[in-house]
Amino acid sequence: MTASQAALEAVFDAAVAADERIEPRDWMPDAYRAGLVRQIAQHAHSEIIGMQPEANWITRAPSLRRKAILMAKVQDEAGHGLYLYSAAETLGTSRDELLDKLHSGRQKYSSIFNYPTLTWADVGAIGWLVDGAAITNQVPLCRCSYGPYARAMVRVCKEESFHQRQGYEALLALSRGTEAQHAMAQDAVDRWWWPSLMMFGPPDDESTHSAQAMAWKIKRHSNDELRQRFVDIAAPQAESLGLTLPDPDLKWNEERGHYDFGPIDWDEFWNVLKGNGPCNEQRLSKRRKAHEDGAWVREAAAAYAGKHDGRHGNDNHGRDDAHGRHDEQHTHTHGEAGA
Ligand SMILES: [Fe+2]
Ligand SMILES: [Fe+2]
Repeated sequence: MTASQAALEAVFDAAVAADERIEPRDWMPDAYRAGLVRQIAQHAHSEIIGMQPEANWITRAPSLRRKAILMAKVQDEAGHGLYLYSAAETLGTSRDELLDKLHSGRQKYSSIFNYPTLTWADVGAIGWLVDGAAITNQVPLCRCSYGPYARAMVRVCKEESFHQRQGYEALLALSRGTEAQHAMAQDAVDRWWWPSLMMFGPPDDESTHSAQAMAWKIKRHSNDELRQRFVDIAAPQAESLGLTLPDPDLKWNEERGHYDFGPIDWDEFWNVLKGNGPCNEQRLSKRRKAHEDGAWVREAAAAYAGKHDGRHGNDNHGRDDAHGRHDEQHTHTHGEAGA
């Protein structure tokens, strides 16, 4: 390492230690940049793949009210994907490159979205548990050391909290409904509970990226800490819902001040991550097709932008055009192409 590089690294380390934000133009270690791109990309991919299992129920929502709520939620998830791809772009990685990695299987999305939504109650269970787990993960990310990611998370978390409530409320209605509706709600919770706990990632002693991410204040809490926090929130909520979490070992531990819970089937987690979950293939092939179907939108948008802005020519997907009057245009065109 040269002397000037050491000086830059010292400035970076001091900023992280002082809880200051690192911004796109600041110097940062290559591994910090690469780790952030990997995490933000995986997060962005999860948002847009996560639209699929729920969109599956838009045409079959049980009432106009439920349908309007679900459509709004699924659109929010598309928006989350867009904020996050934009945050990754500030690190010098284009959206095209990230989408290409998703489509070719070189980057992952959260494994939870490889499970099917079998009944309407699954929409409620996803909102309550999956969005609930996402909030638990993401609230500390609002204080992440990288500025654009932290700021994106503030808005995302506000919307996630609406998602969690709508899921809880939909499940409550089913739980208090007919016997068949109650059974449907219980069945959904039985299927979604354990995969939700897996969303926090492998146990701390097997988590490869955790220690460095915590040292750099990208992550603020370990996987196991966040998982415990989620269980402590969800267990009393299940009681209020009149539903049972499918874990005979789940029990309040007075001494620890936390709920104890049973062992997680990590073989299932690794197996789904490797591509062997019930819906892995379906999710990716649908995503690839949506991307191909949107090609004409991207081409038309680029041609239009080229016509109206001589400074940028035809290639308007770079990072340097994220200002001025083209902002709105780009948001719209990418929104359609990504949905
Ligand atoms: Fe989201
Ligand atoms: Fe959400």
